Amino acid sequence: MKILITGAAGFIGSHLVAQLLAKGHTIISLDNLSTGEKAYLEPSLSHVNHTFVYGSVLDRSLLIDLMDSCDAVIHLAAVLGVKNLVNNPLKVIEGNIDGTKNILEIAYAKRIKVVFASTSEVYGKNEKIPYTEDSDRILGPASKNRWCYATAKALDEHLCFAYAEKGLPVTIIRYFNAYGPRAQTSDYGMVIPKFIKQALKSQPITVYGDGTQTRSFTYIDDTVQGTILCLDNRWNGEVFNIGRPEEISINELAAKIKQICQSHSDIVHIPYEEVYGDKYEDTKQRVPDITKSEQLLQFNPSTSIDNGLKWTIEWYKKTIDGREQ
Ligand SMILES: NC(=O)c1ccc[n+]([C@@H]2O[C@H](COP(=O)([O-])OP(=O)(O)OC[C@H]3O[C@@H](n4cnc5c(N)ncnc54)[C@H](O)[C@@H]3O)[C@@H](O)[C@H]2O)c1
Repeated sequence: MKILITGAAGFIGSHLVAQLLAKGHTIISLDNLSTGEKAYLEPSLSHVNHTFVYGSVLDRSLLIDLMDSCDAVIHLAAVLGVKNLVNNPLKVIEGNIDGTKNILEIAYAKRIKVVFASTSEVYGKNEKIPYTEDSDRILGPASKNRWCYATAKALDEHLCFAYAEKGLPVTIIRYFNAYGPRAQTSDYGMVIPKFIKQALKSQPITVYGDGTQTRSFTYIDDTVQGTILCLDNRWNGEVFNIGRPEEISINELAAKIKQICQSHSDIVHIPYEEVYGDKYEDTKQRVPDITKSEQLLQFNPSTSIDNGLKWTIEWYKKTIDGREQ
């Protein structure tokens, strides 16, 4: 297959490109390098079946050109991260809605398969755990910037479903906190890279809130496996949770990272208001029900948090500030 991957130089994209090339696909990587880095694609850049294009999903004529020869698009390009959604809501809204609209319109005109990257954030603060794909979305008020990313991605999902009804082959993925070696930057509020860097530099490990909030983290190889399974045309018009249900509190996560890094860092707690003012509201728990993905896709997220953290920390140890030496 010839596949266009948007946001390919980002965290998930760069791993996905390598895996799809290894499976014999031809890949066009599109990225505006706003948070991603060309270097993250390094082992794949010189691959004979790979082309990197610097550009934006907001550039319709570029997309029309690139998608002309493709069989599928995996649309990962997005503006994300807690810092962005608190401080830069306009960028988040425009970055997530306009690009997706372009991709879907052009894919519909050309009848090209689309895999769209949505997020567990769309479930908002629904307290009924675990989340199945048809769980309710329960969000806070629109006056809180915190909810703009979840809202933008949900609108993208509505667009995908609307195009699916018109016959576009499209599958939606809701990712749950992916982590692993390489690019995911701590600058935008990603907790695992932040804790690892703090632990390796013997700085205080900063837990926001009381740390009893839990998350389900998914190792990148499992995230990529789920993404590739969604390319199959049998799953057009469907949405899948792609995550690993194992739950861990942020306090436990900090302690585990400290222990694996053999760090002497203190673990300190900082109130959310001190970091994000009154614009942020955390969710207590976020756990996927992956029955549908397991049964239909044969999705099997087998990497334990202990192994995943070990491999991720090994990678970070070989880097300075998260970049390969
Ligand atoms: N990583 C996670 O845990 C997670 C969780 C839920 C959803 N997602 C979704 O998965 C996708 C990939 O996430 P990621 O963690 O790899 O993020 P990332 O920030 O590492 O990657 C996003 C990439 O998109 C690029 N980009 C941004 N705007 C662009 C534009 N206008 N045109 C072209 N490229 C652009 C960035 O430069 C970056 O390389 C996103 O859609 C995100 O919303 C990720």
